[in-house]
Amino acid sequence: MKNRDMRTEIAFAPIAGIATELLAVLAADTQTAKGPETKPQPTLLTTDAAVQAAAAGLLASGEYKAGANETVLLHAPAGLATKRLLIVGLGKLAKATVHGVREAAGTAVRFAKPRGIRQLTLALPLCDALSSVASTRAVAEGAFIGDFDPDTYRSERKDQSIETFILAAPEGVFRSAMETAFAEGAIIGESQNFARSLVNEPGNMLTPTILGQRAAQMAQEVGLGWDVHSTEMLHQLKMGAFWSVAQGSAEPPALIVLRYEPEGVTDGPILGLVGKGITFDTGGISIKPSDNMEKMKYDMAGGAAMMGAMRAIALLKPKVRVIAIVCAAENMPSGTAQKPGDVQTAMSGKTIEIINTDAEGRLVLADGLTYARQLGATHLIDAATLTAAISVALGKTTAGVFSNDDPTYARFESALAVSGEKFWRLPLGEEYAELIKSDIGDIKNTGGRYGGASSAAEFLHTFAEDTPWIHLDIAGAAWVEDARPCIAKGPSGIAVRSIFEWVRSF
Ligand code: BES
Ligand code: MN
Ligand code: ZN
Repeated sequence: MKNRDMRTEIAFAPIAGIATELLAVLAADTQTAKGPETKPQPTLLTTDAAVQAAAAGLLASGEYKAGANETVLLHAPAGLATKRLLIVGLGKLAKATVHGVREAAGTAVRFAKPRGIRQLTLALPLCDALSSVASTRAVAEGAFIGDFDPDTYRSERKDQSIETFILAAPEGVFRSAMETAFAEGAIIGESQNFARSLVNEPGNMLTPTILGQRAAQMAQEVGLGWDVHSTEMLHQLKMGAFWSVAQGSAEPPALIVLRYEPEGVTDGPILGLVGKGITFDTGGISIKPSDNMEKMKYDMAGGAAMMGAMRAIALLKPKVRVIAIVCAAENMPSGTAQKPGDVQTAMSGKTIEIINTDAEGRLVLADGLTYARQLGATHLIDAATLTAAISVALGKTTAGVFSNDDPTYARFESALAVSGEKFWRLPLGEEYAELIKSDIGDIKNTGGRYGGASSAAEFLHTFAEDTPWIHLDIAGAAWVEDARPCIAKGPSGIAVRSIFEWVRSF
């Protein structure tokens, strides 16, 4: 399945001879001395003498410092078959990582796109600090991430997709490992873009029912088991918390279930992925102010992340069973909407006092987590644009992670080292559970301003109970507020890569 049209290939050939529209070569600053007088020493991460010669004058000029994602373009470089040579900076060589390489690939693609360049070749950076195989995968991911633009509904799209992205790598012993890594990176990058394309859709174009159709279509394309249920099933399963959000909307809810059952795996863990799929969050009767309310189309980013991760799982086939549940609904004020003060009975039997109808994400997830456990999940991970408080704590680029189980969290931390996504662990605990005690029922759905991300997480903990569980609060990081050289403004697709890696770790 392709939601973007970028074709990728890997070429094992010397880069000077590659006839291409644009050849991107990475550079790093090798200066190690410190002090006010020291100048950057930009150095190309290639052994190709012809490329070195073509860029020698530029590098000697002092005009280019090889800062992270810093670019400079040379036309008709002497001695090379390419039409253009683009140098992309990685920053200090001593601090170079594959995460910088991922960004650099995105930057090269985003440099080419608005200039009408439809084909480009990136030279795999060669240096001791970077594993060729890991860099190869990162390049493929970064190229797809960079290729995504959100202007889907513009009559004349400014930034059409790149047609062909080529990675040039040296022939050698790692050839087949690199081919595998490149194909894998492409699948992961495409899956992240699949999630982003869903998040980008406005509420009228992506209702819960339509999200369900998109899930079913994806599941059929990649070979996942699937079911999309609606109102009747919510009642049958006694999902009173999920339904309490859905009841206010004319749009029916969707309970999306995706199943990955690898052949021959009949025991071991069953991973339950649960995503918040609020296709639009007005706040309900506790209605939000109008300023920025249009952004609340992205309140299904957690659900989209689970769908993106399941797509990658289906195609890359880890040896573990996985179930994903996306609880999709629209949070609307209406004559049928729930009211502050209402008491709802969740699927688990716990009663919830509704203090604020805008704390709806935790309500749909409560029943999603219970359902995942009922379906046999031994380990849980949820993702949700859950609280504004998480952005107050961590800003707009780092997301929050919570867990009731250190070994399960440790797997997630290892996954982060591969994915390069930024998450920071925050506390759960009795102090936060205290904040959500209700006078009339078992718990209430808000815990006040202070520690808002932790009290929300503790609310979910009530439903995950003692099943090893990870909660990702991506409210801040799911939307890129300011475009960067490597990624467009708009949906970030955060969590797809980390969830996939976490799944693969089992
Ligand atoms: N979807 C919002 C959280 C959100 C806010 C996501 C901003 C992305 C950007 C969530 O449903 C919500 O409204 N949370 C409330 C909870 C409060 C009423 C306890 C919040 O964080 O203000
Ligand atoms: Mn809300
Ligand atoms: Zn919400």
